[in-house]
Amino acid sequence: MKKYNVVIVGGGSHRNPDLMAMLADNKDRFPIRRICLYDTESERQEIMGKYGEILMREYYPELEEFAYTTDPDVAFKDVDFALMQIRAGRLPMREKDEKISLSHGCVGQETCGAGGFAYGLRSVPDIIELVKMIRKHSPEAWILNYSNPAAIVAEATKRVFPDDHRILNICDMPIAIMDQYANILKCSRKDFEPRYFGLNHFGWFTHIYDKKTGEDLEPKIKELILSGEDLFKLSGVDEHTMEPSWIETYKFMANILRDYPEYLPNTYLKYYLYPKHVVETSNPNYTRANEVMDGKEKRCYEMMEEVIKLGKLKGTEYEIKPGRGVHASYIVDLACAIINNTNEIFLIITKNKGVIPNVDENMMVEVACRVGANGVEPLALDPIPTFYKGMMENQYAYEKLTVDGLFERDKTKLLQALALNRTVTDTDTAKAILDDLIEANKDYWGKYFK
Ligand code: G6P
Ligand code: MN
Repeated sequence: MKKYNVVIVGGGSHRNPDLMAMLADNKDRFPIRRICLYDTESERQEIMGKYGEILMREYYPELEEFAYTTDPDVAFKDVDFALMQIRAGRLPMREKDEKISLSHGCVGQETCGAGGFAYGLRSVPDIIELVKMIRKHSPEAWILNYSNPAAIVAEATKRVFPDDHRILNICDMPIAIMDQYANILKCSRKDFEPRYFGLNHFGWFTHIYDKKTGEDLEPKIKELILSGEDLFKLSGVDEHTMEPSWIETYKFMANILRDYPEYLPNTYLKYYLYPKHVVETSNPNYTRANEVMDGKEKRCYEMMEEVIKLGKLKGTEYEIKPGRGVHASYIVDLACAIINNTNEIFLIITKNKGVIPNVDENMMVEVACRVGANGVEPLALDPIPTFYKGMMENQYAYEKLTVDGLFERDKTKLLQALALNRTVTDTDTAKAILDDLIEANKDYWGKYFK
């Protein structure tokens, strides 16, 4: 069996211990020759790298090579799969995105609204640069990109690399939501074949088919959610289920469904359809970025420092329990679909090309696709109803104008983008937020819009 070379772009991410444990756990179906971490911040990554060395030594002795580097010429050579998750400006900039939006009375969120807008403008130049570097060394590599905000990132990569069919933009939110459905139905998300449409963090499940029988489980899922069934009976399915603010967001799906019973909503619709509620219940001085910095991220680095001191994982309290990182296993599922040409169904962000017949063919839609050795083939849908069409066209116009504004250095387009975003809408507010974001991002895109 062929062994693959994998690079993890964004080597310092606190999600990587789970990702690495998951790769080790899946060595039988996705055999790897080399794993390399790549990041621009060497000190942070070094801790991950030293932890990774121990993990691989103990749990993946078959691995021929494990490395970490800040040198793109080393990282991207002979790569088969690039797993890409970067955060330009890291969590301190996420904190600014969230707090600036809230200080103007608007939703302050990582990927939605004005926060997601600022983050998108930071992400896009880095992603483009990275894809170019990967392509220089590994023209054939599959780039599994889950960098945020994925909608804006996908719009930009589509424009800069229009013929590159080996860049797959994906998101784990539908996966995490399906894990919750599986919870209440007492099965596994692998038993489902979903149908879904929308933009990233902005979509709806139309059907959840039972893979074996073809039965549509969606009515049953809706009934259970509306009856107040606790989505979290089996907690610990993924990292989100441990976090109070995420639990709140999952629970809110029932409210959305009560008001809009047609389809099962993505959790992120909360921010677009209930912005007033979101702002009222947000703490403008302590946002999700603070929670992550003080919680998950801090715990992760403390744990790794401990393990490095001990020099081992096995036999310590940090030992990796079977099933760790199972949530992230969709990445291996995707890689396996490609290497084994299985044509299984995944939700991917891809160019519409008529798949949703009544919206722009260039729109980057998130839909069910078959994935195999030749890439992604989206499944065609019927025309979508007016409400969703209106929502998506408005949101896509916002995404498009964000990328236009960046590429053309056109501040008016950035203002238009923000004014279109459902979480902003008022022009004076949009102008004030834009000015603050430009100032806060002066080391990034802000410098072009002074
Ligand atoms: C989900 C989304 C990701 C997002 C993450 C944020 O997984 O799909 O796109 O980055 O949530 O989680 P956090 O714990 O950082 O708030
Ligand atoms: Mn996502």
